[in-house]
Amino acid sequence: MSPEPALHRLSDVPKAELHVHIEGTLEPELMFAIARRNKVSLAFQSVEQVRQAYQFHNLQSFLDIYYEGARVLLFEQDFFDMTATYLEKAHSQGVRHAEIFFDPQTHTDRKIPFDVVFNGIQAALLWARQKFGMSCALIMCFLRHLSQESALKTLKQALPFKEYIAGVGLDSSELGHPPEKFQKVFARARSEGFLTVAHAGEEGPPSYIWQALDLLKVSRIDHGVRCIEDPHLVARLAEERIPLTVCPLSNIKLKVFSSLSEHPLKKLLDSGLCVTVNSDDPAYFGGYVSDNLQAVEAALALSHHDVLKLALNSFEASFIEAEEKARLSAHALEYVESADLVKDTEN
Ligand code: ADE
Ligand code: ZN
Repeated sequence: MSPEPALHRLSDVPKAELHVHIEGTLEPELMFAIARRNKVSLAFQSVEQVRQAYQFHNLQSFLDIYYEGARVLLFEQDFFDMTATYLEKAHSQGVRHAEIFFDPQTHTDRKIPFDVVFNGIQAALLWARQKFGMSCALIMCFLRHLSQESALKTLKQALPFKEYIAGVGLDSSELGHPPEKFQKVFARARSEGFLTVAHAGEEGPPSYIWQALDLLKVSRIDHGVRCIEDPHLVARLAEERIPLTVCPLSNIKLKVFSSLSEHPLKKLLDSGLCVTVNSDDPAYFGGYVSDNLQAVEAALALSHHDVLKLALNSFEASFIEAEEKARLSAHALEYVESADLVKDTEN
């Protein structure tokens, strides 16, 4: 008798992940293991105590803990282990292509050389390509609570590695640090051939999204969910198919919306925006990319067609070549149309 075909989760559909901070993938278990081998003392006594501390009331309260966790990372091996662990998990959830943020200033400000950070992460990307056939790109983020001069210095440090870094982004504390503060460094990055993206409209107002588009000339907006407050902006994002890399569980954990049922993702999707679903900082927010997809699927009653659309959007919004986009999109379509599929909620 032939065995029953294995059922697979709708949310594990082939997809790209376009918004994940590699430092935000450091699970407490690995944080403790690295702290132990590097003899770094943490403010917490146990993995359980760390998890209990992950109760955030806004973006800043999360960032304070996130920067604390990153202090254990000292050597190439640490950056490799963290990145390889994330890629293995992402692969198990159907991620075929990942565009990964890293925050060099979080480390160079602690006297960790730029090349230590870069080499450790890059080695893991090559490992994942060999082991899983996954493709990856790196996006170097500037910390917006620091100065433009610091960002310019970081850009200069990245130039020897330019061919391996697809783009630059902007992250960290949004309120009070509008995109206009970084016009010069983004112009210089573009002139060096980097693509640009920026976090905007996560906690910050819609005007920050307008600035990111018009002053920083970004190809995508990270989060962007507060665009829902400005109908002209929603119309522009739809008309120009400017992607939003939305992170639903993050938005709930950081109190951008009080519950997933209030999340505007479905409204934005239905308004014709190129919305994608991503994990942001999965070790801190309680889920990886498929977990995010599954959560919105349940809370917003998404159909198979909606989930497929989100997967296709992720390839459309990615920085991969057109031929590869078409190949991966066909895989997503085939997956959703396959007979042995169960809806996540039936699982
Ligand atoms: N850095 C890591 N996660 C972030 C987020 N959600 N917003 C801004 N900066 C971040
Ligand atoms: Zn983010």
